[in-house]
Amino acid sequence: MAENLTRRQFMKIAGWAATVTGFTALSIPVIAYFYPKDLAEAPSEPVLVGPPDEIGIGESKTIPFGRYPVLVINTGEGLRAYSAVCTHFACLVNWEPDTGQIRCPCHEGYFDPLDGSVISGPPPLPLETIRIFTGEDGLIYIGGEEEA
Ligand code: FES
Repeated sequence: MAENLTRRQFMKIAGWAATVTGFTALSIPVIAYFYPKDLAEAPSEPVLVGPPDEIGIGESKTIPFGRYPVLVINTGEGLRAYSAVCTHFACLVNWEPDTGQIRCPCHEGYFDPLDGSVISGPPPLPLETIRIFTGEDGLIYIGGEEEA
């Protein structure tokens, strides 16, 4: 049966196979970029931020938290923690002490550091709030389960 396969037919089949393989290989990271798995991949245990004075007023720290980082900000009205993944197209946001806002550099999205809400720009939703608390050892942690 293979003897009946012409060179042209073989090249056509090989071309289609290469196209499908290439498309699949390229589409997976693109889909993951636009539709990131959110905190389903967050660590089950709390993650250490540091001692209470680790982050000065008006400063921030980015903490690795599972697959995505968390932005911890000392707002002057307390510490706040948000997923650093923008709700628009999943770019990583950063803290801008000069403006007192959280900024997404990709499309100029701005978020309120007190509640993560959208101030301006294209993001459709607020940043995801991450639990932040003081442990029994007096250190600051993010994540983990809320005690009932
Ligand atoms: S990805 Fe953040 S504003 Fe577009």
